Amino acid sequence: MVNNLIEIAQEAGEIIKEGFGKKFSIEFKTNESNLVTEIDKKSEQTIINYVRKKFPTHSILAEESGESQSSSDYCWVIDPLDGTTNFAHGFPIFSVSIGVLHKGEIIAGVIYDVMQNIIYAAEKNSGATENGNKIIVSKNDSLPRSLLVTGFPYDIADNPEKALDIFVAMTKNSRGIRRLGSAAIDFCYVAKGVFDGFWEVHLHPWDICAGKLIVEESGGIVTDFDGKLTDIFSPKILCSNKLIHSQMIDVIKSIS
Ligand code: IPD
Ligand code: CA
Ligand code: CA
Repeated sequence: MVNNLIEIAQEAGEIIKEGFGKKFSIEFKTNESNLVTEIDKKSEQTIINYVRKKFPTHSILAEESGESQSSSDYCWVIDPLDGTTNFAHGFPIFSVSIGVLHKGEIIAGVIYDVMQNIIYAAEKNSGATENGNKIIVSKNDSLPRSLLVTGFPYDIADNPEKALDIFVAMTKNSRGIRRLGSAAIDFCYVAKGVFDGFWEVHLHPWDICAGKLIVEESGGIVTDFDGKLTDIFSPKILCSNKLIHSQMIDVIKSIS
């Protein structure tokens, strides 16, 4: 399965690479910050065509076209371009993220960092890799010595789940915070031990699916803000190397 995911993520990535820096149409979704470009749609259609051809019975949950259910136990969860704002502004951090569920459990995930040409991949119980080389989370057990990453949802103006307050508290209690603009890549940088933790509110299943498996298979953990193991539909995601997880929860609890 993972080889199929790699093949189609790279194909979609080529479409994105070709479109980067060129003229493309942009539409607003929920507000003026929430964009979709014609490249997001082209990438998604390419991935969907591939699934339809190779796995015609499988269900699909894709960001731009929604859900197509079938009686299959398999479901493809697709973010055709994670980091659309970066892409639209010419900032070269964005990815293709594809995960596959079997009876609701994530069994395979691939994230393609398009401009760096890096494939992150994981298969359930088989570890996680970066361009074929095994990756593991960091061994840092101190939040004050941790570098963290986060992101903000498109409704951040409403400060959902006190996201802005959590950001301030994490800033005060860690070595620093980065904001890359692609949640899928955020997960990968925790998986390979560059960042020690990541959190975000109001992510969607397609932002989470592949990244969650990649982090878990590299020795990390993904929970809600109470530390409970969670599925890809959780509105609050906390992800770390395990060692700083409880310290991150304490910070979140301190402001809620
Ligand atoms: C977004 C990115 C971003 C995160 C947003 C997501 P999109 O996905 O992952 O990093 O902060 O919450 O919606 O819209 O570029 O696919
Ligand atoms: Ca996304
Ligand atoms: Ca997207």
